[in-house]
Amino acid sequence: MTDATDRPAAASDTEIRFTKDLSRPEPIPEAGIARVVELMRSGRLHRYGETGAGDPDPALLEVEFATSIGARWCVAMSSCGATLFVALKTLGIGPGDTVLTSTFTLAPVPGAIAHAGARALLVETTPELTADLDDLDRKLASTGAKVFLVSHMRGHIADLAALRAICDRHGAALIEDCAHTMGASWDGRPTGRWGLIGCFSAQTYKHINSGEGGLLVTDDDDICAQAILYAGSYMFFGQHRSRPADAVFERWRGRIPNFSLRMSNAAAAMLRPQLAELPRRAATWNRLHARLVEELGGIEGLRLPRRDAREQFVASSIQFFVERPAERIAAFIDACAARGLHIKWFGVETPVGFTSNASHWGYLAQPLGVERSLQTLGRLCDMRIPLDLTDGDCRVIGRIVNTAAGTT
Ligand SMILES: Cc1ncc(COP(=O)(O)O)c(C=O)c1O
Repeated sequence: MTDATDRPAAASDTEIRFTKDLSRPEPIPEAGIARVVELMRSGRLHRYGETGAGDPDPALLEVEFATSIGARWCVAMSSCGATLFVALKTLGIGPGDTVLTSTFTLAPVPGAIAHAGARALLVETTPELTADLDDLDRKLASTGAKVFLVSHMRGHIADLAALRAICDRHGAALIEDCAHTMGASWDGRPTGRWGLIGCFSAQTYKHINSGEGGLLVTDDDDICAQAILYAGSYMFFGQHRSRPADAVFERWRGRIPNFSLRMSNAAAAMLRPQLAELPRRAATWNRLHARLVEELGGIEGLRLPRRDAREQFVASSIQFFVERPAERIAAFIDACAARGLHIKWFGVETPVGFTSNASHWGYLAQPLGVERSLQTLGRLCDMRIPLDLTDGDCRVIGRIVNTAAGTT
């Protein structure tokens, strides 16, 4: 694919501008649009029907997603945040409990812990943007926390074999927040398959897009049955295809509140064709990411996080550190923005857009005790990689970043 920026660049480094909208979401495939229109014409938008429900799209999506990552069960919900909350509920987490979670994550993750009534305690993040396993070990020992909710934030995956072994040694359950790792693996095993529960997002800026949506996966019968009941199945759990036997529901029926966190038929209908496209999307994202690494890798004052050879990521965004004091990073961000390149910064004092950090989540217990991570995140910049980026765009991004880094 070519665009204007693929032509030989005539503009000088100080004149060049980036004109593409990095926040432009991926469109819905035509098959998804046609199915949603069909559903709208029928009026059948709720996943459960008293009569004539047939094979509702969420039930089919659940089977397809579970199969795609080798999970026994999948439950579709209204958001990834909803799946994280329900995951904690199925493990009996509530007031008085401490849940460990990653410092490098987004607000819905500590939000889900607060929603369950528990206290979130942060685990340090390494300079390579993954969970600090020594700090995890120490904090599991000192708090006796029953759950570690690890966030594979921006697709950076810790050594999950080592991480799981630490959780097992302390008798702690592992929940994986895979909002940014759909399609990704550690050492050949998909993320979401290393712990008891994996939670995925289908929010607009994730790897598949239905506006809002979440998918919970597990191999555990009781977790699956509880999740279906918490999501709000009324007496229709029989309309799920990805579910354990009725006898498992009998153990939980009448004891689980209905939180109304279901996925709608329309959301599932637009997701099913995107799931089929995911391997192709992942290859494109990783090719573009590699191009941007080439462009940004040699720039003075910038550092890219190291990736482990066992990490099979899906790089729908790129992160880099600007190794400078905060005022100079702010000037760098402004210089890029002046040329149309809008870069996000995790060290920003007042949160903007989707980007915030742990120092902004005033409801967490203070002090946060993760100074090292906050210093790391204070220098971290972030850029989304839309699928329609071209090689020429990557070159322009490299030139703008290089010029901004050299002049601020
Ligand atoms: C790292 C991370 N985890 C979880 C979520 C929650 O996803 P959702 O918006 O589907 O609730 C997000 C959302 O942006 C996220 O970035």
